[in-house]
Amino acid sequence: MKVSFILNGEPVTVDVKPNEILLDTLRLKLNIKSVKRGCERAECGACTVLVDGRPTYSCNLLTVQVEGREVTTLEGLRDDPIVKELTSKFVERGAVQCGFCTPGFIITAYALLKSGKELTPENVKKMLEGNICRCTGYKKIIEAVTAAAEALKK
Ligand code: FES
Ligand code: FES
Repeated sequence: MKVSFILNGEPVTVDVKPNEILLDTLRLKLNIKSVKRGCERAECGACTVLVDGRPTYSCNLLTVQVEGREVTTLEGLRDDPIVKELTSKFVERGAVQCGFCTPGFIITAYALLKSGKELTPENVKKMLEGNICRCTGYKKIIEAVTAAAEALKK
């Protein structure tokens, strides 16, 4: 069956199986490699994308469910100033080791910074609780997101 949606600002139409998950469609059919296959059971956040602006696990969503909706991945946000600041602070603060979890964290943090919510280490921690990193621990990631928020205020 065919599903049409907006991917990173461009309309796409793709043939999918009725039970195909968005993670597979993105990685295997649309060459979107920033979206990582981790737990595949809605626990780790490695596969996080934005669906209509909200962080969503793409392993937990059928592709048919995004018909007519807007899907955004890190590939579509490369030139976004918030993403650039986050990326730079992740590197500067040592919040990246193997990097497998990083796109998911950046997408979630991006949505948080876009939301305009007040950022404290506590609410950054809360917002990122759906993303798991097995390398760095969370302190550096929280510091990086908080530092990016501070830099963007200036
Ligand atoms: S792969 Fe989707 S949450 Fe882990
Ligand atoms: S940097 Fe390796 S899992 Fe997070």
